[in-house]
Amino acid sequence: MPGKLKKLFTARGLHYLFTRFGSAALRKKCFDEKYLNGEWDYSGKPDFPLAVVVEKYAAAGHILILGCGSASVVGALKPGSFQTLLGIDLSPEAVKLASRQKSEAVRFEVGDIAEFKCGRKYDVILFAESIYYVSPLRRKKLLKYLAENLTGQGKIIVTIAQPERYANILKMIRKNFQVAEDRSFQDSARHLLVFR
Ligand SMILES: C[S@@+](CC[C@H](N)C(=O)[O-])C[C@H]1O[C@@H](n2cnc3c(N)ncnc32)[C@H](O)[C@@H]1O
Repeated sequence: MPGKLKKLFTARGLHYLFTRFGSAALRKKCFDEKYLNGEWDYSGKPDFPLAVVVEKYAAAGHILILGCGSASVVGALKPGSFQTLLGIDLSPEAVKLASRQKSEAVRFEVGDIAEFKCGRKYDVILFAESIYYVSPLRRKKLLKYLAENLTGQGKIIVTIAQPERYANILKMIRKNFQVAEDRSFQDSARHLLVFR
């Protein structure tokens, strides 16, 4: 594909429009390009601040990451802090990068968050910078469904790097779920919500 066309998929305004209102195929293409051009490739940059939160709630159990991207949090998780981890992403390029970390306990699959069906209960369901790609019309219903598929103490963890821009999502979660943590990360605007 010509370079100019590829750039269209990642150009700021167009990327927003395509990934929020485009078909699944167009969204996939746009996300793939972000990984192919390196912009979203965080493999090799372990996300330690987020890993601390995930470990706290994982209780050495089962973790699901929706919109996992290159799954930078996985490289920061301590051995033994979880039993299994499944990462799902619409972008095959993201899954390819994430899969460098795969093991018997860790696997990654191409899939659509909106169509994901839980085959088990999870201790942690993580949306790291991915919840805003779920249609506003489906967000609450999806989170309610996922909350029903948590273990007794399980939690959904959401991070949002631009909390003012996505204030409506934070508001919807605060209104409809039992919130355990609602704060910014240290030295960062990135917001954290832990709930069930
Ligand atoms: C901003 S990136 C964040 C990636 C990763 N969680 C991180 O923190 O580095 C958003 C990710 O969500 C994925 N995504 C967006 N919509 C999706 C959907 N409907 N189903 C699965 N993955 C999706 C994109 O492919 C992309 O990898």
